[in-house]
Amino acid sequence: MSILETRNVHKVYRSDGVAVHALRGVELALQSGEFVAVMGPSGCGKSTLLHLLAGLDSPTEGEVVLDGHRLNDLNESRRAILRRRTVGFVFQAYNLIPNLTVADNVDLPGLLAGRPPAEVARRREELLEALGLADKGRAFPHQLSGGQQQRVAIARALINAPTVLLADEPTGNLDSRSGNEVLALLRRFNADGQTILLVTHDPKVASFAQRIIFMRDGRFVSEMEMAGGGDPTRVIAKLVEVEQ
Ligand SMILES: Nc1ncnc2c1ncn2[C@@H]1O[C@H](COP(=O)(O)OP(=O)(O)OP(=O)(O)O)[C@@H](O)[C@H]1O
Ligand SMILES: [Mg+2]
Repeated sequence: MSILETRNVHKVYRSDGVAVHALRGVELALQSGEFVAVMGPSGCGKSTLLHLLAGLDSPTEGEVVLDGHRLNDLNESRRAILRRRTVGFVFQAYNLIPNLTVADNVDLPGLLAGRPPAEVARRREELLEALGLADKGRAFPHQLSGGQQQRVAIARALINAPTVLLADEPTGNLDSRSGNEVLALLRRFNADGQTILLVTHDPKVASFAQRIIFMRDGRFVSEMEMAGGGDPTRVIAKLVEVEQ
C-alpha cells in the first residue's frame, strides 16, 4: 500500500514578481517499508518536494496524499496534527533548538503531539541509546559534533514513530565517518520497517536505497531499482547519463 503519494504536483514560487516553476508534474508512490533516495542537481526541486510531502507547504497544483489523507482537504491545524503523527523530518542543517538540551529537543515533537511525558521520555531513552547518544541527554547542541547533532535530529524525527521519515541530505554536512554512522543507523531503522525517503548528492548513500529517483528541472526523469547493497558504480553511471 502506498503511504505517501503525489498526483501531478506542481509548485510555483513567486517572489518579486518572478515565478519559479520548482516542480512540474511529480508523480510519486512510496510504499510502506521502502527506502527511497532522491537525487538531482542543485535547484531541481528536491527540498521543495520534501516540504510538500511533509505538508510544510502546499502545491500550486495537484495533490499529496499522506497516509490516506488528501492534504488539500485539511486546514492548517488538521494538517499539523497529521504531520506530527505521521512524518519525521530531518533537515540538512539539523535545526536543533540551541537553548534546549538534547533530551528536550527530542521530546518536543512528542509532547506537541500530546503524548504522555513518561512515554515520550521512555522512547527518547531508547532512541538515544540506539543512536549512541545515551550519555548526551543533558548536553546542549553546541556541545556536540555535527554527526552527533544529526543523530539527535534523527531521534527527534523518530520520537512519534512516524509512518515515514523524510530526510533532506542527512549526511550532507558530515565528514565521511559521521556520514557512514548516520547512514548505518538509517539502514538499521529501515530494516526494522521504517519507511524512509531521503535526498542525497552522495552516490554511496543512495546506493543503499532500494530505489533511486532522479530529478531534473522539477521532474522525475529516471528511476533505478537497487539491490540496496551499497555499490555506487551504477549510480554514478546513471547520474552522468541523466545530467547530460
Ligand atoms: N521559498 C522560495 N521562494 C522562491 N523560490 C524558491 C523558494 N524555495 C526554493 N525556490 C526555488 O525553487 C527551485 C527549487 O529549489 P529547491 O530548494 O527545491 O532545490 P533543491 O533541489 O533542493 O536544491 P539543492 O540541491 O541546492 O538543495 C530553485 O530554483 C529555488 O531557487
Ligand atoms: Mg535542497
